[in-house]
Amino acid sequence: MSSWARFIASRTAADPHLKLNAIFARLFALALALGAIPGAALLHAQDLPAGLTARLVACGACHGVDGNAPLRETPSLAGQPVVFLENQMVLIREGIREIALMKGALEGVTDADITALARHYARQALKPPAASRDAALFAKGEKLAEQNRCGSCHLPSYAGREQMPRLAAQREDFLLHSMRQFASNQAVGRDTLMAASLHGLSDPDLVAIAHYLSRIGP
Ligand code: HEC
Ligand code: HEC
Repeated sequence: MSSWARFIASRTAADPHLKLNAIFARLFALALALGAIPGAALLHAQDLPAGLTARLVACGACHGVDGNAPLRETPSLAGQPVVFLENQMVLIREGIREIALMKGALEGVTDADITALARHYARQALKPPAASRDAALFAKGEKLAEQNRCGSCHLPSYAGREQMPRLAAQREDFLLHSMRQFASNQAVGRDTLMAASLHGLSDPDLVAIAHYLSRIGP
């Protein structure tokens, strides 16, 4: 038995409040053996109901098991408000927010599972933003975000709240991709308030805003 599997087994036996069971521990041990789950993320995944582990590994292929997305135009989920994540997962599961890549990914996932997944990702630490900054682009983005009062909903720190997502330290390519979707009314199933908020901004403006938001701390 690996040291991690032993650790999980000992925690399971010691703490009756943990929802881990023997199967969960074995699945995790297997995923760990395959290198699918970094040890740091594991520590925070202990509250997930058994059965969600395999799902988490599947989501992790695109969003990162710790919620820091390794793929382009794919959102990091770490540190997002629970309500935002719950809402989006329900919209995606019901096919209201259409994401071709996620077809079937949430099929059969119950509301309770969605809440568990949302809490898991909300608790993960978002990686610090890339240090490289284009000073002129950053300053332009900062000014535009202020002028357009993006912080009135997303909070002045852009940490998000309730149904409003965190924008700070999100992947730059995803921020730009989603703003372009809103601006061209391609954001099927998403909040129409956002399209209105981007009214009058040009594409170079969106490029600057994405650069700015992706470079501010989580
Ligand atoms: C094959 C890749 C892939 C897999 C697997 C996948 N996703 Fe996604 N997911 C995406 C992409 C890409 C987007 C953004 C799409 C867009 O807005 O155009 C997304 C969006 C989301 C969003 C909305 C986040 C936001 O900031 O707008 C949530 C929440 C989410 N996924 C959760 C999950 C969960 C939970 C799983 C596993 C059950 C999962 N995803 C599996 C690719 C994937
Ligand atoms: C009136 C409130 C409001 C204002 C003002 C607002 N937003 Fe939003 N924003 C939202 C909501 C709500 C969502 C979630 C959309 C959904 O549910 O589909 C969102 C989503 C987003 C997303 C998608 C992020 C993700 O993870 O999916 C981006 C990017 C974004 N906003 C950027 C901005 C920028 C930039 C501004 C300023 C120009 C702005 N927002 C102003 C309410 C607002």
